[in-house]
Amino acid sequence: MKQLLLTAALSLGTMAAVAQPATFEVNTKRDVAPIQSTMYGLFFEDINYAADGGLYGELIKNRSFEFPQTFMGWQSFGNIEVKLDGPFDRCPHYVVLGDPGHRDKRTGLINEGFFGIGVKAGEQYRFTVWAKALDGSGSIRVQLIDPKTMGERQEFFSESVKIEGNEWKKYELIITPKITFDQSHLRIFLDGTKAVALEHVSLFPVDTYKGRENGLRKDLAQALEDIHPGVFRFPGGCIVEGTDLATRYQWKHTVGPVENRPLNENRWHYTFPHRFFPDYFQSYGLGFFEYFQLSEDIGAEPLPVLNVGMACQFQNSREEDHVAIDALDEYIQDCLDLIEFANGDVSTTWGKLRADMGHPEPFNMKYLGIGNEQWDTVYFRRLQPFLDVIRVKHPEIKIIGTSGPDSEGKMFEIGWEAMRAQKADLVDEHFYRPEKWFLAEGLRYDKYDRKGPKVFAGEYACHSRGKKWNRFEASILEAAFMTGMERNADVVHMTAYAPLFAHVDGWQWRPDLIWFDNLNSWRTCSYYVQQLYAHNAGTHALSLLWNKAPVAGQEGQRGLFASAVRDANAGTIIVKVANTSQEPQDISIFLKGLKAASEVTTVSLISDDMDADNIQKEYPVVTPQPGKAEVSVDKKGATVTDQVPAMSFRVYTVK
Ligand code: AHR
Repeated sequence: MKQLLLTAALSLGTMAAVAQPATFEVNTKRDVAPIQSTMYGLFFEDINYAADGGLYGELIKNRSFEFPQTFMGWQSFGNIEVKLDGPFDRCPHYVVLGDPGHRDKRTGLINEGFFGIGVKAGEQYRFTVWAKALDGSGSIRVQLIDPKTMGERQEFFSESVKIEGNEWKKYELIITPKITFDQSHLRIFLDGTKAVALEHVSLFPVDTYKGRENGLRKDLAQALEDIHPGVFRFPGGCIVEGTDLATRYQWKHTVGPVENRPLNENRWHYTFPHRFFPDYFQSYGLGFFEYFQLSEDIGAEPLPVLNVGMACQFQNSREEDHVAIDALDEYIQDCLDLIEFANGDVSTTWGKLRADMGHPEPFNMKYLGIGNEQWDTVYFRRLQPFLDVIRVKHPEIKIIGTSGPDSEGKMFEIGWEAMRAQKADLVDEHFYRPEKWFLAEGLRYDKYDRKGPKVFAGEYACHSRGKKWNRFEASILEAAFMTGMERNADVVHMTAYAPLFAHVDGWQWRPDLIWFDNLNSWRTCSYYVQQLYAHNAGTHALSLLWNKAPVAGQEGQRGLFASAVRDANAGTIIVKVANTSQEPQDISIFLKGLKAASEVTTVSLISDDMDADNIQKEYPVVTPQPGKAEVSVDKKGATVTDQVPAMSFRVYTVK
C-alpha cells in the first residue's frame, strides 16, 4: 500500500512537472535593437506569370505582334499581312487586315489572352488600338467571345470602331460585358472590305489599382498593400541575369511610352522543361517606373536589382560567358542612370523622363542590389568596379551584394567573406529549404558577426518536399524561424518570402505567396504569416528568454519559438510564439518592468489540417483568428498566461 501511494505521488509529481508552463521572460525596459522599417518586405519577379498575365493589368498576349512567332497568342484568318514599318521603332511589327475577297469571307484576329481573358459582368474594360485606314476610312468589329460555347452565339459583346484617316491614331472603346467569364477571347473582324492597319491591341480593366491606365490588377496589388511591406525588391531573380546576356533585364527598355518598350524573352518559359510555357515573354509594360510607383503606393522602400555584367551562373559557368571586367562601363552607367531616374532633378536627362512619365518628385531610392544570386570570384571581381564608382558618386546609396544560392557551406562562407571585404552594406541570402531545416535553424542569426554587412534574407520559403506545397504546416515553420530574424534585428534588416505570385495555370515554381487565376486570387497561409509579422513589426526588439536561453526550438524547449518587440508609437509590447509541437503548450510570459497592462489581444494562425493551403475556390480555409489572453500585474511586471495550440502561431499584443 505504501509503495502504491508512493508510486501515485511520484506519477502525480511527474504529471505536475510536465504541466509546468514554459516561462518566458521579456525585459521591457531594455531595447536590444531597433527594428528597421524595411524588416518585412516583398520580392517581385516575373515568374509564374506574375507580371504579364498577372499583376500587370493587360489582358492581351503579344499585343504588339513582337513575339518571335508573330501570331503566337493569336489566330489570324483571311487576308492578313504583317508589316515592319510601324509607328514605334522598338516594336516595329503591325498587321494589315485586308479585303477577304468575298462577301461571305472574313479577315481578322482572335487573341487568347493569358490562359483566357477573365472579365466580370458589369465591369468596364478599356479596349485600345493604334490604327490607320489605308484607304482613308474603315472599320473593325471588336468582340468578346466564348470559343467553346454550346450556345447560339459565340460573342457576348460586339461593337464596331470606325477608323478614320491614314495616319496612326489611338482608338478606344469601353466594353461592359453582361456576363462573367474567365476564359474569353478577343475577336476582331474587319468590317467591310477597306484595309485597316492595327498595332498595340490592348485590353485593360478600367478599375485597376489606383485607377491608372496601363495599371495593375487591383486584387493582386491590393494583396501587396495589405501586407504593409517595408521594402519592395524588383525585378528579380534570375530574370535580372537572363539565360544569356542578350536576354538580361534592361531597365532602360522598360521606361518611356509603353508602346515602344521592346519585348524580352522570359527565361522562365523554358527553364523547367516539365513546366514549359513557350508563350512566356516580358512586354515590359510593367517596368521600372511602375515598380517605383507601386513601391510608393504600398509604402515600401524600392529596392531595384541590376545586372552585374553576368548571365545566370546556373547556365553559364565559364568566365567568357560574362562581360569582361574591363568592359563593364555600360552596366555601371546603367546603375548611375537609374539613380538619376529615381532620384535626379527634373533638369537631368533621366529625371526628366521620370517627370514626363508623371512623377516629377523623386522616388527617394536608397538601396540598390548589384547582381542577383551570384557567387564566387567571377562575381566578386565584377562587383568591385561598380562599388568603386557608386561609392564615390552616390555614397548615400546602400549597396546590396549576394551570397549565392546556398544557405550555408563553402560557397556561402566565401560569399560572405568577400562581401565583408568589399564592404557591401547588406548581403542578400537565399534559402528555399525543407521543413527540418527551418526547425533546426532557430538560432541561425544569433551566430552572425555583429560588425559586418547586414542581412537581407531576400528569398526564402519552407519547401515541404514530397508533400503538398504551400501547406499550413510549412507556414508555421516559417513563422517559427522568423522569431530568430526578429530577435536578431540588429543584423537582419530586410527579409522577403519568395516567389510572390503564381498563376494556377502557368506556374513554374512553388510554393508561392499569392496564387491567382484570371478572376480570383488566394492568400496562402504563408501570406498571413508575413502579414502578421509586418503588421506587428514593432519598433524595437526586446530580449525574450526561457531559462536564460533564446526560445528557438532547442532541445527541451518543446518545439516552441518566441520573440518580443515593443512598439514605441503604439505603446504596446508584442510577443510572437510559434508552437511547432504536436501538443498544446501552456506558457507564461513575464513582462519584466511593465507596470500596467489593460488587455492582451491575440491573433492566431491555427488549423487542424496540416495540408490546408488556401489555394482553392472555398477560400479561405485558414485566416488569422482574433482572441484574448489573461494578464495580471504586480509590482515587478505583468504576466500573460495562455495555452498555445499544437502547430500554431500566435501574436500577443499587450496594451
Ligand atoms: O525565386 C525563384 C528564383 O530563385 C529566383 O529567380 C532566383 O533568384 C532564385 O534562384
